[in-house]
Order: sequence, then C-alpha cells, then structure tokens
Amino acid sequence: MEIEWKDEILYKDLVKWACRLKREAPFFKDLVKSFDVKNSQVLDVSCGTGFHSVMLAKWGYCSVGVDISEQNIKEADNLAKNEEVESKVEFILGDILDIQNLLADRKFDFIYCIGNTLAIFDLHERKKIIQQLTNLLKPGGKLLIQVVNYLAHSNETEWFYKPNLMRTSDGLLNFQIRMMDWKEHSEKINMYIHRIIQDTSNSDMFELIQKKTEFYVLKKKDFQFMSEQKTFELKFLGDYNFNQFDEEKSNDLVVIIKKKN
Ligand SMILES: C[S@@+](CC[C@H](N)C(=O)[O-])C[C@H]1O[C@@H](n2cnc3c(N)ncnc32)[C@H](O)[C@@H]1O
Repeated sequence: MEIEWKDEILYKDLVKWACRLKREAPFFKDLVKSFDVKNSQVLDVSCGTGFHSVMLAKWGYCSVGVDISEQNIKEADNLAKNEEVESKVEFILGDILDIQNLLADRKFDFIYCIGNTLAIFDLHERKKIIQQLTNLLKPGGKLLIQVVNYLAHSNETEWFYKPNLMRTSDGLLNFQIRMMDWKEHSEKINMYIHRIIQDTSNSDMFELIQKKTEFYVLKKKDFQFMSEQKTFELKFLGDYNFNQFDEEKSNDLVVIIKKKN
C-alpha cells in the first residue's frame, strides 16, 4: 500500500478506541439508562472523530456530535457509515462557543463534553459554554463534563504519562510521549507531546513531531456557580467508576449537572 506521508496524525489514530470505549461504556450506560431509548436526543460536545456518538447511536439513541475540526467531522461521518448508524447520528461542524445558535431550538436529554476538552478554554469561555449547554438540556436532562484533575499533581512541577505505541490506520507506528510542565503552579499547565512516526516498510522513513498544548487547571469550585442556580443539581466524581472526587488523588474531575424537572 502506498502511504501518503502526513506530518500530523488523525485523532482516531491517537487513542486505543476499543479499549477506551470498553472501559467507559458502563458509565455512559448508567447515565442514560433513565432516558427512553427511542425518543431521546444525546449531544457529544467536541466529538472528535465521533466514537462516543456512534456508541450511543448503536444503543438506539439519536446522537448529535459537534466539532470544530473539518477532518474530525469527516472521519466521524465515515465511522457512522462503517458502523451502519448514519440514520441515528448527525455530525455538525462548528464552534462550541456558539453551540446554542448552531443547534437552534433543539433540546437534549443527555449532553457530554469529555476528553479534557473544557480545559482548553479560559474561565469566561467555560462559563459561556456551560451556560449554553445547560440551556440545551430538557428538564430532567443531564450534562456530563470530564476534565483531568491536575491538582492530583500539586506536589510536582513535571511528570510524564506512560508512553504509548500504536499503529495508525495507514499502518505506520506512532510512539508518543507526553511531558507535563507545571513549573509555576499557575492557572495553566503545558503539555509537550513528542511523537515518532515510523514507516516499518522503510526504516529510513520516519518523522519526529513536537507539539505544545496548554490546559487550564480546572477545580471543583470552577463549577460551583452552577449550584447557585436552583434549577440544577451537581455531583462530582473522580473517575468513570463512580468513585467520589478527591482533589488530591482523583485522576479526573467528572461533573454531572442535572436539570431538575
Ligand atoms: C481532546 S479532543 C476530545 C475529543 C472527544 N470528546 C474525546 O473525548 O475523545 C478535543 C476536541 O475538541 C475539539 N475542539 C477544540 N476547540 C473546539 C471548539 N471551539 N469547538 C468545537 N470543538 C472544538 C477538537 O477538534 C477535538 O476534537
């Protein structure tokens, strides 16, 4: 097979999807079990290449996914086609900062914004996004947010995550290291991703890619403004296994915001 050399890897090739969905599916199943399968609408906010949207469509829910990346939306459409759920899922290209306009007057039973996505936005933008998402909820609906709990690393100024080796859909090997830099313990944290892409049919063909991403360090108190609104109930978890959130230990900050009936 002729490989077209790319200097970036598709999001679908950065995650071991079968493992991730197997791990996360029971949590999602539990969150949506109270909603009628046929008549419920679910919304995947910053859906990436659409794996969660397709999972929920396969369970029978009407799924909508929104992402700002044209490439991701294209891949998500392909995934829906391959998994034969095109009639149950719709992918929309757009900015979640303007998501209410994008979705006009549609309402959803379950909305989720996961994969640390909210951590790329500043406080003002986050509030704007959360406000719009809660407006898009039906009474009794739930909003799930998942971000990384960087406060579990409060005693560190640098750390790394377990290196990851994956084969891309093009057959290339992708070896990835993520280094975290939190020197000043400020409101932002830097992530340096170093990636080696290797064509195993030609050992001379390889590329080194470095990318820096900044994330805001989100805290439980950043969501408290929602509990001041009487129409919402908030729950904080530390992972997708229903463990309570512990600021010093939890890997994740998982927030479930329920709009009262
Ligand atoms: C880390 S990925 C998470 C994807 C997916 N939710 C998951 O859990 O795997 C972040 C996603 O946010 C999307 N994104 C970033 N800024 C956005 C914006 N302003 N509006 C919509 N999507 C955005 C990116 O294109 C990317 O697909």
